[in-house]
Formats: sequence, structure tokens, C-alpha cells
Amino acid sequence: MPETSPASPRIDTSKPHPARVYDWFLGGKDNYPVDEALGRQITAMEPTAKYGARHNRWFMQRATRMLAARLGVRQFLDIGTGIPTEPNLHRIAQTAAPEASVVYVDNDPIVLAHAEALLRGTPEGVTRYLQADAREPAKILELAGGILDFDRPVAVSLIALLHFIPDDQGAYDIVRTLVDALPSGSHLVLSQLASDYDPERTRQAVEMYAAGGVTLVPRSRAEMTKFFDGLELLDPGIVWLPDWHPELAVDEDREDGTPVPLYAGVARKA
Ligand SMILES: C[S@@+](CC[C@H](N)C(=O)[O-])C[C@H]1O[C@@H](n2cnc3c(N)ncnc32)[C@H](O)[C@@H]1O
Repeated sequence: MPETSPASPRIDTSKPHPARVYDWFLGGKDNYPVDEALGRQITAMEPTAKYGARHNRWFMQRATRMLAARLGVRQFLDIGTGIPTEPNLHRIAQTAAPEASVVYVDNDPIVLAHAEALLRGTPEGVTRYLQADAREPAKILELAGGILDFDRPVAVSLIALLHFIPDDQGAYDIVRTLVDALPSGSHLVLSQLASDYDPERTRQAVEMYAAGGVTLVPRSRAEMTKFFDGLELLDPGIVWLPDWHPELAVDEDREDGTPVPLYAGVARKA
């Protein structure tokens, strides 16, 4: 069963939610008119926004392939998971290693509603969902500690999540708390909306999200780099999302070469 806070919040359809706007970008059905309205506004200004969402999923898939199949990682903690799409992280990890353990975390009740779909993993492995807020990393570590073994390497992923968490809500402290809890050989997987790709369009996107009550925090390359302080970035370092190990792609439709204004990087804790 998914684990939840004692009082699970209800789905609020009066304002857009990142998970549901994102679902609309991906062509899903788990969104409401408020989410679609914001999605349409964003794509009217930036037609590639939908493509960016697909690129995030593909980056998650490529990074998981690298970690599970090439680097032997067997434990995954994915925070800000989103509404499931196929193949999800556990499918990729458990295809490479059926015994892999995967813990998903999100704070949106709509993701909780889909947790059952997330939980269908291999019998040899572990696949669990926690309803928790990234701004409470100690709580996430405590709950995940009952499932994962923090004496063995864990890959922690925050993919397209940190741009919903301002610095003054602890974005850097969250990453630091999580990384500090990991043993040597663990990895950190991040993607983040860039502030220095097309500043004017990004500013407009920030305003549109703000009008819907959602805070969006684009960051520069230097600010993205700071999340990896003290860690060893894997080759090729911090790059535009589609440029992170494109050779690991399976079934990706990359034909149009649309630029994607998000940074991506994976680093190892020595
Ligand atoms: C843009 S989606 C990204 C989903 C997935 N990681 C991907 O890249 O395809 C961002 C996700 O982060 C979740 N999220 C936003 N703020 C969060 C928070 N404070 N704690 C936990 N999850 C959060 C949203 O509910 C949403 O599912």
C-alpha cells in the first residue's frame, strides 16, 4: 500500500498543480480545466514546452539505464515523481536488475491516486510510494530508511522538481540534507529549468505560473552547479537535457532537435 500522511490532502481543482499541468503537456488525461488553461497559455508562448516535458521523462530513463545497467546502482529514491508514464523509473531499473528497490515520493494527491500503477514492480524487487513533501527531507529520509538500506549506494533523483522550490524554501538545504545521508558510491540526478537560455520567455513563463499560484524558479548554470557541490559530476557534466548521454536513448523521437531550456546532470558521491 502507498504510505501517506495521516490526513491525505484532497485534490484541489480550483488552481493549477505542477503534476497535472505536466500531465497535460505529456498528453495525459489526469488534469483539470485549470491545468489545461495554464498549459495552453504556456504553449501559446513557447510551443516547445510539451517537448520539454517529454525530454525530462527521457532523461530520467537514460539516467536510470546508466545507473542501473552500467554503474550497478540497486536503490533509487525519486522525489517529485509525477503522474506515472510508461516506462517509469522502476521499470527501467528492474529491467536492468529485477532486485532493484525503488521509492517514489510526491506531495500531490493526484500522484498518490496513481500510486497503484507505480507499485507494480518485479517480485524480486521493491517498489513503494511515499506521499511526502520535498521541503521535509529529514522526514523523507526517515520513511525511506524503512525501505532502502542507506549503508548501500542510493541514487536520489529530483527531476524537474527543484524549479518549484525557491531558495528561501530551502532548495539547496534539501539537496544537502539528502546527499549528506547517502553513503559513498551514491548518485544525485537533477534537471532544472534554466534562467539563462531565453531569459525573456522564461520570465513570461514565471509570470504565467505565478498568475496560477505556482512559483517557478529558473536557475542559471552556476546556480545549478551549486546543487552538486562536493560531488563528482559524471561525464559530460551539466548539459542541456537532450545532450546528456543521448546514446542511451531507446524509442525517443528526437527528430525535430527542438532546444530544451533545462539543465541536466548526474553526480557521484566519492
Ligand atoms: C514537472 S513534474 C516532474 C515529474 C517527473 N520528475 C518528471 O521529470 O517527469 C514535478 C513534480 O514535482 C512534484 N512536486 C512539486 N513540488 C513538490 C514538493 N514540494 N514535494 C514533493 N513533490 C513536489 C509535483 O507534484 C510534480 O509531480
